[in-house]
Amino acid sequence: MSVTLNVNGVDRQIDATPDTPILWAIRDHLEMTGTKFGCGMAQCGACTVHLNGQPIRSCVTPIMAAVGQKITTIEGVQSNVAKVVQAAWDTVQVPQCGYCQSGQIMSAIALLERNPKPTDADIDAAMSGNICRCATYVRIRSAIKSAAEQL
Ligand code: FES
Ligand code: FES
Repeated sequence: MSVTLNVNGVDRQIDATPDTPILWAIRDHLEMTGTKFGCGMAQCGACTVHLNGQPIRSCVTPIMAAVGQKITTIEGVQSNVAKVVQAAWDTVQVPQCGYCQSGQIMSAIALLERNPKPTDADIDAAMSGNICRCATYVRIRSAIKSAAEQL
């Protein structure tokens, strides 16, 4: 069936069943591959996108939950916070293999959008669902703090 999803501010028609995970609508139907598949079980955060500004695990969220809502992917983040976060990621040179990083950045943006001056505990709580097999956690925290100082 045809489903309309608003992705990065644009209404897109997708021919898929309502229980199709948002991740596959984004990657396979819309060919936006910045959002990654890791575990498929809401355990790693690689698939993190925003739904109305809140970070969600797109691998376990069906497209029917997003009808009439706003999905934002790593390709579409444009806020000032997003620009500052991405610049901090560059400056700190956070990524190693890079696979988890779009999910990390989406969670970091959501954190700083709602809390521009997070404590270490706030950062831990917001980022705990995003796993990095390369263990870039120290640099992730450093980049978030750097971004927070600039906001
Ligand atoms: S792929 Fe969605 S949380 Fe791991
Ligand atoms: S940078 Fe390799 S998994 Fe995070």
